[in-house]
Amino acid sequence: MSRRLLIAANWKMNPPPQGALQSGSPYFSSGDPEVVVFPTFIDLQNCIRSGQLIVGAQCGRPEQNGAFTGDVSIKLLKEFGCSYVLCGHSERRENHGETDEYVAEQVAAALEVGLHPIVCIGETWDDRKKKKEKSKVKYQLSVLPLESDVTIAYEPVWAISGGDPDKPAATAEDAQQMHSFIRSLLPKDRQGPTRILYGGSMKPENARELLSQEDIDGGLIGGASLDPKKFGEIVKIAEELGLKQQL
Ligand code: 13P
Repeated sequence: MSRRLLIAANWKMNPPPQGALQSGSPYFSSGDPEVVVFPTFIDLQNCIRSGQLIVGAQCGRPEQNGAFTGDVSIKLLKEFGCSYVLCGHSERRENHGETDEYVAEQVAAALEVGLHPIVCIGETWDDRKKKKEKSKVKYQLSVLPLESDVTIAYEPVWAISGGDPDKPAATAEDAQQMHSFIRSLLPKDRQGPTRILYGGSMKPENARELLSQEDIDGGLIGGASLDPKKFGEIVKIAEELGLKQQL
């Protein structure tokens, strides 16, 4: 058994990169790795209509309808043609007050309607300084339905968007250590099949080292995903590495 690498482009609040929707762009999934794009809500329709992109939403509301001005339900996202949804990205947690328990509700709602959730977890620099990175991700995981088919994205908050120049960059060893810890916390029968992506300044220069780690099954990429050339190089590296064997 093996895990298919997943390379995801989180475009955040940016338009699709030039040429992304044209056939042959690096954002199209053509075998392995699986490639998924996460555009803004405004761009979802064009990306889905392209017919060739695998598309996910950057967030969604667990309730099916109601008085939630400005929100879009996870059920609607599924009906609209999304295949994935990000749950609990650190920018949602920080800017929109999303709690661990609320993120778990999103994951449950996604599973219920058949939308694949990618749940983002990860510690802040302050957690790491206090040596609380493991207890933080352990709690974030503890509220999730991990017996189900979910994808985890480990994103150390301090390493996102190029990191903070005052802090050391996350190394492949740092990431592997946390990924292996996260895998050890999954139910036994889910440890093999569950994909754990890394997010935090993945770029062509560090992608091979990161993606070669035993427990890193892909990337959730922000900045470098906005540059088709850089993103294409990362996809190529993943293609060369092939499938990840389940131990
Ligand atoms: P960067 O790749 O820009 O660090 O962003 C990571 C991220 O937040 C992806 O969701």
